[in-house]
Amino acid sequence: MTNTMWGGRFAASPAKIMEEINASIDFDKRLWRHDILASKAHVAMLGATGIIKPKEAEEITRGLDKIQAEIEAGTFTFSRALEDIHLNVESRLTELIGPVAGKLHTARSRNDQVATDFRLYVRDEIGTIDGALRALQLALARQALTHAAAVMPGFTHLQTAQPITFGHHLLAYVEMLGRDRGRFADTAKRLNESPLGAAALAGTPFPIDREATAKALGFARPSANSLDAVSDRDFALETLAASSIAAMHLSRLAEEIVNWTSPQWGFVRLSDKFTTGSSIMPQKRNPDAAELVRAKTGRIAGAFQALLMVMKGLPLAYAKDMQEDKEPVFDALDALKLGIAAMTGMVEDLEPDLRAMKRAAAAGHSTATDLADWLVLNLGLPFREAHHVTGKIVALAESQGCDLQKLPLADLKSVEKRITKEVYSALDVAGSVKSRTSYGGTAPANVKREAKKWIKRLEKDGLSR
Ligand code: ARG
Repeated sequence: MTNTMWGGRFAASPAKIMEEINASIDFDKRLWRHDILASKAHVAMLGATGIIKPKEAEEITRGLDKIQAEIEAGTFTFSRALEDIHLNVESRLTELIGPVAGKLHTARSRNDQVATDFRLYVRDEIGTIDGALRALQLALARQALTHAAAVMPGFTHLQTAQPITFGHHLLAYVEMLGRDRGRFADTAKRLNESPLGAAALAGTPFPIDREATAKALGFARPSANSLDAVSDRDFALETLAASSIAAMHLSRLAEEIVNWTSPQWGFVRLSDKFTTGSSIMPQKRNPDAAELVRAKTGRIAGAFQALLMVMKGLPLAYAKDMQEDKEPVFDALDALKLGIAAMTGMVEDLEPDLRAMKRAAAAGHSTATDLADWLVLNLGLPFREAHHVTGKIVALAESQGCDLQKLPLADLKSVEKRITKEVYSALDVAGSVKSRTSYGGTAPANVKREAKKWIKRLEKDGLSR
């Protein structure tokens, strides 16, 4: 059967394999809601401008409503022979209301239609993702407030560096996710132009009102160049780029959870809700959800690359290559939404082992910098010299097999005789974090203030600082 929607000059049917490679309905049926929405905006405009009779416009609108109800009820039959969502809807419209259905496609092409539908879809998805990221930020900020003073080791090179607080660590992710939301918001702003009315590529001789359709669909304005309107997929690429960065952030947190929950670290415990057992090793509690969040970064970043490669060699305007824009976006955004939700669940669920964290924070001479700072502040040593003296003391502690803060005063004095017993408060991990009150520093008072600020902002839906 030739395609009934465009088969006028075709005598023969497509090859079986042609149908298989050409049809997009299996995946673009997801766009049905946006397709109908855009068609309704278009037909209302055709009626209002007198391009078709208002009565015809009403008839078409009623038909579209019926199709919407059929799809919602699951009684609509999607057909591969009709290629895509646009032709499936239009074909059913013809069945329902007869030849007047053919007037819907006046001053329109599938090229501007698909560009419009896809923008509407991605715009909705960005809204959903923003809400999900906000919920994750809130979960993190609440845990941060609870654990504002919980001492843990901070790392550089994954080597013990300086004591920090768990709350401070979690708030770092709140900042990252805030930037992610900013990227999505920027994308949504640039995305928000209506391609509808660009028609196939050159515009149309009909006296259409693009402002009206743009407004009806919640777009800020119609896009200014008809060629650009039908061939631009920047909005999808930007969304995938923002998604890739957000997924990378989730992956880093996932990796931390994997580390923290391993018995060797023992910093954090996830409940049975977010762990799995092993079929052979009864002792195991595996952080599968965190691992999968980490892994999904691959397909999300891969989707960005895939679409970038689809687009990079395309001359203007539309080419069928662009039909390959949808699957990577659908898959990546699904994966991202799932990853954010799973991460939110894990963050709400996780329970730190405060003693284990503190013990680890005190190991590895983590307050060596505090000692050097103490020598600068109290004995007036230049920092470089203080660093050198501290290095000697650390070597001494190492030779005695103890941590810095356990070294007797006599030993400290043997390296620098002006050191007094007051130094021990600087060597204590709780004292160390408490002293770091510089703006953005890890002091519990700072963390508490920042966590509260974020919670207040996030509860009000706020994005920026
Ligand atoms: N299914 C097509 C797509 O997703 C719709 C646009 C078809 N346009 C065309 N000129 N064949 O890109």
